Amino acid sequence: MREMLAKIKQDAMAKILADGADLDQIRIQYLGKKGELTAVLRGMGALSAEERPLIGQLANEVRATIEEAIKQRASAKAAEELDKKLAAERIDVTMPGAAPRMGHTHPLTLVQHDMEDIFLGMGFTIAEGPEVEYDYYNFQALNIPENHPARDTQDTFYITEKVLLRSQTSPVQVHVMESQRPPIRIISPGRVYRSDAVDATHSPLFHQLEGLVVDKGITMADLKGVLAAFAKTCFGPETRIRFRPHHFPFTEPSAEVDVSCFACGGKGCRLCKGEGWIEILGAGMVHPNVLRNCNIDPEEYSGFAFGFGIERIAMLKYHIDDMRLLYENDVRFLSQF
Ligand code: DAH
Repeated sequence: MREMLAKIKQDAMAKILADGADLDQIRIQYLGKKGELTAVLRGMGALSAEERPLIGQLANEVRATIEEAIKQRASAKAAEELDKKLAAERIDVTMPGAAPRMGHTHPLTLVQHDMEDIFLGMGFTIAEGPEVEYDYYNFQALNIPENHPARDTQDTFYITEKVLLRSQTSPVQVHVMESQRPPIRIISPGRVYRSDAVDATHSPLFHQLEGLVVDKGITMADLKGVLAAFAKTCFGPETRIRFRPHHFPFTEPSAEVDVSCFACGGKGCRLCKGEGWIEILGAGMVHPNVLRNCNIDPEEYSGFAFGFGIERIAMLKYHIDDMRLLYENDVRFLSQF
């Protein structure tokens, strides 16, 4: 039996140290319930009383030796594998990183900021108003009572009968005049809504930039001076402006304002459709009723107001012929700006 135990020990150790040793398998083969060492121990009943403890002790030593050898080989193997893994996953910190793709300002925002800068330079400040608006501010206070035909051209989205998505930035005029005493000199850029179907020149959501000046002694000459200065800065120093009589309920007199075509200088071309002039905004002197609605005495104060479509300015400046390009977020288009 001693020889058997010695042989088991020798075989097991050789297997444990061999290349590619399957340690679990070896454990089962020698130490498992049906293993070789267990088989030897089972045969101990046939030994003499003196021999039994000696063989038992020897068998235990063999078991302990094999167990210890398996344990050591297992931890050596794990360390080896870890080294291999670390070597394979080694990071070269001196390699250049993956550069993040930088976005940039959307052309509409770009134009809005340019427009803001021009007016800020003339002493205007920026006012904000809600996009979800009361009928009162969007229409009534602006001298557009219920059933006024001007409501048809500004059909918008109603939340309730009295609450709607603003169809113009003009209601900000009212908010400002309610909360501020003259002198007032503000612009207000922002989103507006109309229930229009999408096409090359219409969108149910678009952007306007409103302007309002109220003080003592403000005249149409001031309006013209401000808009002429704007046009020259925005479209080039040669640019002239022209007022055409028009009607807006909240201004009197009212005008549509054109700039001389910056593509042909006024001779007539494709951009201005042969006119030499391009319409860019609506404007006028603030209607006395609007001032009165805001508790400002029209005998004491006067003012002017104007309203641009920001999309329109962007399309003119960048020769964009389809408004939808501004909303589709096609990077091939946007990356050009
Ligand atoms: N709110 C007008 C519109 O959406 C534009 C406008 C015209 C604004 C004349 C004004 C103005 O402030 O004086 O069509």
